[in-house]
Amino acid sequence: PIPLLIDTDPGVDDALAILMALNSPLHRVTGLCIAAGNVGLAHTTRNALKLLEVAGVRQVPVYAGCDRPLLHPALDAAFVHGHDGFGDIGYADPAGRAEPLHAALAILEQSHRHAGELLLVTLGPLTNLALALRLDPSLPQRVARLVVMGGAVTGRGNITPSAEFNIAFDPEAAHVVFEAWPRFDLVDWEATLAHPFAFEDATRWMRDGGELGAFYEAISRTSRAFTAARSEHWHSADGLAMAVALAPDALLEWADRRIEVELQGPLYRGATRVDWAQHGERAANARIVQRFDPQRYLGMLSAALRR
Ligand code: BDR
Ligand code: CA
Repeated sequence: PIPLLIDTDPGVDDALAILMALNSPLHRVTGLCIAAGNVGLAHTTRNALKLLEVAGVRQVPVYAGCDRPLLHPALDAAFVHGHDGFGDIGYADPAGRAEPLHAALAILEQSHRHAGELLLVTLGPLTNLALALRLDPSLPQRVARLVVMGGAVTGRGNITPSAEFNIAFDPEAAHVVFEAWPRFDLVDWEATLAHPFAFEDATRWMRDGGELGAFYEAISRTSRAFTAARSEHWHSADGLAMAVALAPDALLEWADRRIEVELQGPLYRGATRVDWAQHGERAANARIVQRFDPQRYLGMLSAALRR
């Protein structure tokens, strides 16, 4: 199986993505690297440990990483995911503990251990990965593939009018990664909105999913209500990113373009700018996802919740 390392800030949609990864027969999840993002690091780490426990997974190490953005403080997304990031259901403490190694160092360590094979998927702010790149700029040479959830490639933000949450939380980190990584796959907020699924379908999958389905139903209640107040459909940014990571053959349409991060300015800080018309001299760094096979996506989502 392909070794898969996930950097994440769980987070309700992160949890779904992690379940999809754990479910893949072609992949072996080799670790969860945790950052602050949706909520603070203590919560995101605890959520990761709890999710693994409920899923009955013992061998996956959890590495806590950065507890804040590289430079500037940022607002979290507790208003979507709940104050604890998992819908404030008051779950009992998980038995497991995080490893002593910092997540940035775990990324480097795994890149050596699985050199040339590692699939790296980021579902949160890019703080840990940026730090790893500063420690060792040769990192991309050892990673077979990087898939990033982040950005609003046509300017339709979700945390500000122009910026998507993962990039806006730590724009400097995203800048470091986008400048240093020669080629990565990008699942942005517009792609997320273009791949919706029905609340009713998800409710059925969760009902068929036993203890795990019931847990996901509970932790997602707050964020589902948030989405239902704004949209007819549900969607999962991190779930779609994971689907693209797990099944590249089901990616039907993409655009190879240069993407950069805006660091300045009150209106555009954290926005992503894509050179759509290919005016610039700089080579494309991103394969921007446009269309993923909807049937394959639904299949992966439902299988993960029924696991
Ligand atoms: C991203 O922001 C977070 O709230 C989600 O977990 C996802 O990674 C979507 O903009
Ligand atoms: Ca996330």
